[in-house]
Amino acid sequence: MAPNTLTFKRILANSSILGANPEPSHFRVVTVTEPIPELKPNELFVKNLSFSLDPYIRYEFAKGQTESPVIGFGLSRVLESANPSFPKDSLILAPVDWAEYSHISSSELLIEVVLVDRTLPYADKVSLSAYHGVLGVPGLTAWHSLRKIGDLKAGETIYVSSAAGTLGQLVGQLAKRKGLRVIGSAGSQAKIDYLTKELGYDYVFNYKTADKRQALTEAVGDKGLDIYYDLVGDDTTEVVLDLLNPRGRILAVGILAEHQGQKTEPPKNLINILFKQLRYEGYVIFGNAQEVPAFWEELLPLVANGDIKYTEHIVKLGQGGLEAVPQTYINLLKGVYQGKVSVDVASE
Ligand SMILES: NC(=O)c1ccc[n+]([C@@H]2O[C@H](COP(=O)([O-])OP(=O)(O)OC[C@H]3O[C@@H](n4cnc5c(N)ncnc54)[C@H](OP(=O)(O)O)[C@@H]3O)[C@@H](O)[C@H]2O)c1
Repeated sequence: MAPNTLTFKRILANSSILGANPEPSHFRVVTVTEPIPELKPNELFVKNLSFSLDPYIRYEFAKGQTESPVIGFGLSRVLESANPSFPKDSLILAPVDWAEYSHISSSELLIEVVLVDRTLPYADKVSLSAYHGVLGVPGLTAWHSLRKIGDLKAGETIYVSSAAGTLGQLVGQLAKRKGLRVIGSAGSQAKIDYLTKELGYDYVFNYKTADKRQALTEAVGDKGLDIYYDLVGDDTTEVVLDLLNPRGRILAVGILAEHQGQKTEPPKNLINILFKQLRYEGYVIFGNAQEVPAFWEELLPLVANGDIKYTEHIVKLGQGGLEAVPQTYINLLKGVYQGKVSVDVASE
C-alpha cells in the first residue's frame, strides 16, 4: 500500500547565504509532497503553528547540494509521537525546519524539545507568543547565562549591547532587579526611550550615531564598568576591555554583527584580561533544557504580573504565513522591529 503522503510548504536557504548579509534571493519557498514518516523511537511528527524568528538560524548543506532546509524554533502541535515525554496533541517548543510540518528525528534536535505546559501556575495569564521570547529560548538564555556566569552584585555596572532586542530587554530588567546600574545601546530613539522609560535602563546611547568609545566612557563615568553582556561581537569589545574594572566580566552570548556578514577584527588590547584579571566567558543555551522548570517558576509570575515587560512583533496569519518568514527575518536583522519577532504559520 502506498504510504500516506502530505503536500506542504518548506523554506530552503541557498548556500550563497553563508557568510553573507541575508537577502530575499537566499531563500526559496517550495511545495513538497512527502510520505508521513514512520516514526522511530523518540521521534516526533508535528504541525508548526508559529515560528520564533531568531537572528541565528541553522542550516546544513549536504555535500554537493546548494540548498538546505532552515531550522529555527517553533511552537508546534504533536501529530504523531514515538516519544513518551511529548505525547500526541501536546504543544511543544522545538527546533523545526521552516515548514508547515516537521519530522523531528535527530537526537541533536530532540534534546532541545520542551513541553509547553499551559497548566503551570500563571501560564494561563501569559500569551502563547511569550514562549518565543521572554519565556522561550531567548529568555532562558538571558536568565541562565546571568545566573551561571554573570556573578551579578548589587552596585555593579553592566553594559548590554543590543539592549532593545529580546535578550537585551530581559538582561537589563534582571540586572536592575539585582540592584545593578544598567547601561545599554540601541539603534533608534524610540528604542532608547522604551528602555529608559519603561524598562528602567539607567542610560542608553544610540550605537549608530554616537562615537562608541566616547559614549560608553561617559556612560560608565568614574565607577567604571563591571560586566559587559555582549550580544553583538563587534569592535565594542576593544572599548570595553579598556573600561572594565579589575575582575570584570565579559559574557559573550550573541554575534549579531556576524549574522549580518560584518567582518570584525579581534580586540588589540586583550592584555587587559591578564592585567585586570578579567573573565571572558562564552555561553550557549544548547544542552540547558533542564533549567526550564526553574526558569518558568521564577519568570512566569513576573511576566504574568507585568513585573517583567517585553515587546513583540507578531506577523499574523493572513499576513503571508510561511511566505512572510524570509523577509521578516531580514527586517529583524536590520533592526526594523523591537523585541521578539514571530510569524504565525497555521491555525490549530
Ligand atoms: N548564546 C546563545 O545560546 C544564544 C541564544 C539566543 C540568542 N543568542 C544570540 O543573541 C543575540 C541577540 O538575540 P535576540 O534574540 O535578542 O535578538 P532580537 O531580539 O532579534 O534583536 C535583534 C536586534 O538586534 C539589533 N542589531 C542587529 N544587528 C546589530 C548590530 N550589528 N549591532 C548592534 N545591534 C544590532 C537590532 O536592533 P537595533 O535597532 O538596536 O540595532 C535588532 O532589532 C543574537 O546574536 C542571537 O543569535 C545567543
